[in-house]
Amino acid sequence: MLRFAVIGHPVAHSLSPRIHAANFRALGIEAAYDAVDVASADLAAALRRFAADGLRGINVTVPHKVAVMDLVDRVDSAAAEAGAVNTVLFAPDGSTAGFNTDMAGFLHPLKSCGFPFAGAKVLVLGAGGASRAVVAACRAAGCASLTQANRTARPGMLQLGSEECLAAARAADLVVNATTVGLREGDPCVIDAGAFRAGQLVYDLIPVARETATLAAARAAGARTLDGLGMLAAQAAESFRIWTGRMADLSAMLSALDR
Ligand SMILES: NC(=O)c1ccc[n+]([C@@H]2O[C@H](COP(=O)([O-])OP(=O)(O)OC[C@H]3O[C@@H](n4cnc5c(N)ncnc54)[C@H](OP(=O)(O)O)[C@@H]3O)[C@@H](O)[C@H]2O)c1
Repeated sequence: MLRFAVIGHPVAHSLSPRIHAANFRALGIEAAYDAVDVASADLAAALRRFAADGLRGINVTVPHKVAVMDLVDRVDSAAAEAGAVNTVLFAPDGSTAGFNTDMAGFLHPLKSCGFPFAGAKVLVLGAGGASRAVVAACRAAGCASLTQANRTARPGMLQLGSEECLAAARAADLVVNATTVGLREGDPCVIDAGAFRAGQLVYDLIPVARETATLAAARAAGARTLDGLGMLAAQAAESFRIWTGRMADLSAMLSALDR
């Protein structure tokens, strides 16, 4: 039986076991996928244990995505570019390889809705691990310009919510919320709702079935919207492809999220 896991700290909230189980069922594969809470101090030992136990691969979530890069034998170009690993393959020869499927996962819903990257102005809100994959993906997809804004000041970035940030949001063809604002029910819109407009696409990475305040405000302003569930399913499908060489049943994975 194939065995997989997602590791994080905490990890109990992860939707990955549900998504992968739906895919295994749809494809008739006998496999197990567990959520395993691993504290940072135990990360290296946990990887050795998974390899010894014969797991085929794992997903890696907060807070281990950067630290795991130094614990695998090699990383692919997407992981190197994003500076983070969210998928590890335990190869039959005993070696370990790290991948980043967030880039492909982020782009998949944009490709599906035909978003034209050529000439597009992009504003990315947030400067954490997810934003790095988003920025790398938008650059690779050929956007015309990319602006980033964050709550905590960072060189070269705008202040989240500042006048310049709101002006950049109004000018943007694509606004991406890569902050954690919206994860908790009752969280507000990530920026002033008046910054959204018709003709733009607002993409909230928050992976929840309910509509976030950010997406509700964008929709009310006439913008098109994308939630984070499509990305979540697409990055899981890409992990499955890396581990098994097979295409996942993406629609089964999406249905498991009960949008
Ligand atoms: N849909 C998917 O498949 C998918 C995949 C990956 C991630 N995500 C989502 O993307 C989000 C970011 O993940 P991450 O891994 O990048 O997290 P992270 O590394 O912890 O970064 C968090 C970001 O959110 C900002 N932030 C936190 N609280 C804030 C607040 N109250 N107001 C404004 N900004 C705030 C942080 O700003 P500071 O620098 O100021 O702290 C930082 O930029 C999460 O919600 C995660 O669930 C979704």
